[in-house]
Amino acid sequence: MFHILERSQEAALPARATRTTPVTDRSAWTRADVEADRTWLFQLTPRWVQEIDDAVANLRRLGRTLDSMGRDDFPLPTLAAELNRRIWGEVCTGRGFNVMRGLPVERYSDAEVAMIVWGLGQHVAPGVSQNAMGDKLGHVYNQGLDYEARNVRGYQTSHQLKFHTDSGDVLGLMCLRRAREGGLSAISSGTTVFNTLLAEKPHLLPLFFRGFEFDRRGEETPFQKEVSDKLPIFAEVDGDLSLRYVRQAIKTARPKLGMQFDPEELEALDFFDSVAARPEVCFPMMLEPGDMQWVNNYTVLHSRSDYVDWEGPGRERHMLRLWLKIHGFRKLDPLQLDHDPHSGWSRRDGILPRGFTMRDGRLQAAE
Ligand SMILES: [Fe+2]
Repeated sequence: MFHILERSQEAALPARATRTTPVTDRSAWTRADVEADRTWLFQLTPRWVQEIDDAVANLRRLGRTLDSMGRDDFPLPTLAAELNRRIWGEVCTGRGFNVMRGLPVERYSDAEVAMIVWGLGQHVAPGVSQNAMGDKLGHVYNQGLDYEARNVRGYQTSHQLKFHTDSGDVLGLMCLRRAREGGLSAISSGTTVFNTLLAEKPHLLPLFFRGFEFDRRGEETPFQKEVSDKLPIFAEVDGDLSLRYVRQAIKTARPKLGMQFDPEELEALDFFDSVAARPEVCFPMMLEPGDMQWVNNYTVLHSRSDYVDWEGPGRERHMLRLWLKIHGFRKLDPLQLDHDPHSGWSRRDGILPRGFTMRDGRLQAAE
């Protein structure tokens, strides 16, 4: 039997205090800041490309696949240290993002690029499951599904995705192929969105600290309900302000509960979306094949515009998505993380594969 946090218990949790002062650390950036200082660009040198090339040759020699490869099969003698320096120093604790550029994806098969993405991540932290099938990497491409249909996730469509955060602590998004038209990525600082809300509409802030229900879109774990209780959008623990936001999951949660949004809630959510999308706040970037965006899911929102694919199989826009679970870089609110105290699972662990559960924080086959 698994424990479900009931509403009565939720009410017993301490009230989430609303932060009333702006955040002034490096995570509070604007578009002008990151255009003026491009240290977020992580250009692969010929030496680092050679290290990846050698590591792929090693995988081929050993006959490894995505499922059978281990970190030691993919050695990165000097790139691993630089990747960790950037993830820890800039993605986890600084501005909250980096763009790694210059992987010659045309040299490799799609399956090999997937192994490179996984291998890079393994030098930093464990990767977690992307969906109920337990996939190590998410394949983000248009599967011809309707974004408004029940339990469809945005990455399966060519629809515009509004600013949101993912599961896992850090997101890695590698561009394999870009679209014929559109598909522009953008990121926004969640910290700047918070500071703007505080400056312009502080009366709405308590709603975000109280939170909203999230639709789990058919990928709930065995111990969860189809729709979550209210989970904070912003939560602060010992000065660390963290974010969790997916408008589409919030939007479809209420109808499943037979509830409606009140006008102030809609005003708050619309205002949040509009601030994140302000031209002076968000930083658009076209990810080219071989670019990999690394994003801190607690401080940075990401989005993409809608797009049109090239004709023909194998030519569609295709991104590979990695979620990493990284220990100890910030203090997090268990309620915001959907933490289940009985099993130890939280959204940092990704989406539980069907037929599996967790006990004491470890993945196990369900009984
Ligand atoms: Fe996403």
